[in-house]
Order: sequence, then C-alpha cells, then structure tokens
Amino acid sequence: MIRINEHYIKLKASYLFADITRRVAEFQKANPARSIIRLGIGDVTEPLPPVCVAALHAAADEMARRETFKGYGPDQGYAFLRDAIARHDYQARGCAIEPDEIFVSDGAKCDCGNIQEIFAADTRVAIPDPVYPVYLDTNVMAGRTGYDRDGRYEGIVYLDSTPANGYVPALPSQPVDLIYLCFPNNPTGAVATRAQLAAWVDYAKRHRAVILFDSAYETFIRDPQIPHSIYEIAGARDVAIELRSFSKTAGFTGTRCAYTVVPKTLVASDAAGHAQPLHPLWYRRQSTKFNGVSYPVQRAAAAIYTDEGRQQTRALADFYLGNARLIRDALRRFGIPCIGGENAPYIWANVGHDSWAFFDLLLTKAGVVCTPGAGFGRCGQGHVRISAFNSRENVTAALERIGTVLK
Ligand code: MLT
Repeated sequence: MIRINEHYIKLKASYLFADITRRVAEFQKANPARSIIRLGIGDVTEPLPPVCVAALHAAADEMARRETFKGYGPDQGYAFLRDAIARHDYQARGCAIEPDEIFVSDGAKCDCGNIQEIFAADTRVAIPDPVYPVYLDTNVMAGRTGYDRDGRYEGIVYLDSTPANGYVPALPSQPVDLIYLCFPNNPTGAVATRAQLAAWVDYAKRHRAVILFDSAYETFIRDPQIPHSIYEIAGARDVAIELRSFSKTAGFTGTRCAYTVVPKTLVASDAAGHAQPLHPLWYRRQSTKFNGVSYPVQRAAAAIYTDEGRQQTRALADFYLGNARLIRDALRRFGIPCIGGENAPYIWANVGHDSWAFFDLLLTKAGVVCTPGAGFGRCGQGHVRISAFNSRENVTAALERIGTVLK
C-alpha cells in the first residue's frame, strides 16, 4: 500500500485557527441565541479601499474585450505591480530592491510555507516562540524536526519571546542556518528596533545564515524610528528574504495578493560548498508550482500605490489602530498587562493563567473570541492575543462584555 508522509503524523491534530473555528462553531451550535464577536483570527472586516474596487471593475472590463483580455501573466507578476512595489515600499525608504527581485503571489502564508522547500532537509531552523504556526508546521511537514515533546519539536531552535526580553528574542546561542523573524510581530504585536534588526543581520552574516523576515504587518508602524523592512539595515540584501502581504494593508484577506523579495545577491551553499544564488531557485519553484495572481487582483494591488490609494490604505490601518488603542486601554483598566497594538493590530495580553481557560471564559461568558497564546507556542502560555480587526461597534461591545466578565 502507498505510504503517507509520516511527518504529518507529528503535527498537532489541527491548525490553530481551524481548531478555534471548530470550538466556536460547537459553542454557537449549543447556544444558537448567543451573539459572538470574533477578535480571534486576524481577518479584516472593512471593505476594500475604493481605489482597489475601481481597479477591479476596470480590469474586469478589460478581461471582457478581446483586445485587452489577459491569459497567463508573467511568472513573477506584472511589471506594473512589481515596479510600484520596488519604488514605494523599498526605494523610497532607501532600500536597493529592484522589481525583478520581487515575486508576486497569492499570500504571505503560502510563501512562508513554501519557501523552506529551497533549503536542504538538514537545515537548522530557528523559530520564535510564540510564533505564527505556519513557520513551524511547514518545517515539521518537510521533515526537519523530530516529534513534539512537551509542546516543542525536537530539532528546532526556539527563540523565546517573553516579558523578560520585551517579546523580542535574543540571538541563538548555537549556530542555525535559517531564522524566521516577524516584525511587527504576530502574535505579540512587538516591534524590533533598528539596532535589534542590525544584530540579527550581523548574526546571519557571521553564521552564513538566511533570515526569513515576515513584515506582513508593516503598514501599522507609526513610530518613525521602527524599520518597515529588513532591507533598511545595511547588508540585509545578502542575508534576508522578505515577505509582505496586501491582506492587512488593504483588506485583501479574501482577495489574495502578496509578494516575496529574494535579492539577487543572496546565496546559500550547495552540497559541494559552492555559493548558489537563491533567486533562481525560488523562480524555478514558483514557475513550476504556481501560475500567478489574477490580472484584476494585481491591478487592484497596484492601485494601492497611487496617491489616493496610499491615503485610503493609511486610513484603513488607522481605523484598526484606533480599535487597538481601545483594546489596550480597556485591558489596562481591567488590570491586565499587555503589549502590542501601537504599531501592530494585535494586542498580547498577559492574563496570568492558562490561556485556553481564558479563551473558554471569554467565549462562554462574554461571547468574545480571542486566540489563546499557548496555541502559538509554549511561551504563549498565560497570554491571549486580541485582534483589532473588527468594526468599532463590535470592538466596543466586546470590551464592555469582557469588562463585565472580569469584574
Ligand atoms: C492570524 O490571525 O494570525 C492571521 O490572520 C493569519 C494569517 O494571516 O494567515
């Protein structure tokens, strides 16, 4: 009989957010009259910016006419989008990133899950704890770990993010090859300073490691001192891949568009010890397994970079940051220490006891869904993540209900 990929057996039964969805659905089924407010998964609620909607309509009309119809697009994405990304997201910040170093995709989740394929099976991987579960689970699937022992997979170097280090992990004490970093962080909302990122870049250079830098939440940065991209750090081109998404920037969670930057100067070693550029490997992977993002969606993404688009997406992020401020202020009033929510849409609340128990309390007593910190890793125990992605009305109502339950 054909055999399965045994590494899947090592995974927890279900993906964190699928698990939460199931628990919430069971509660709703048992309590059909209860209203539930979801501040769990970071899914946006506000409509697409009008510039994106107009671009989608216009592109749909182009698809309706023989003269302007489009079939398969270019492998790395349309030049009009990659040019806009390179100019606005990188060159405007002094980062020397060229359009042909950008790969447009249908999501940062897919990219961060897929990119590990271009590295060797025995790559030593460092992953923060707590962490967006995709980084870890995809390395488990690929066979880079042993079994889960007490909430930690053998073979992974965990980078603890705790109250003691301000939720920004220290450099590993042992050599690693591949380092996952995410700032502004999911789930903690912590941000990394220029000096902290520079220390990681320096580490990667010294150990000839590669950093996978997930900056899906950069649009929420308001502190001018905080870097938006790892490429703002000198030398990062030679050690880092960056992942970005339009999901949170412009409400594209259901529209799907993102991109990954693989600089042409970034190399890793082959089995013979020769330096091999990573760009052609990712190009080969994407052109073999992926057929691009639809033309209308790429047009909608490009519209974000117009003057109007920039104003509209800024206002969208400001709206969610307004929710985040309300959540932070309320938690402090309730006596719950928290971080995040200032340059990030997530608030990481230190609830001081079992995070699944706190999740159950909020669900059953307040009808509010949060994300239990333990679901993001051992260091998440005692915490919950509250997402600012919802309407103002729902956030306000959720906070009132939480206040009543915690009284
Ligand atoms: C989250 O809630 O962590 C995010 O929505 C997950 C994602 O972006 O895939």
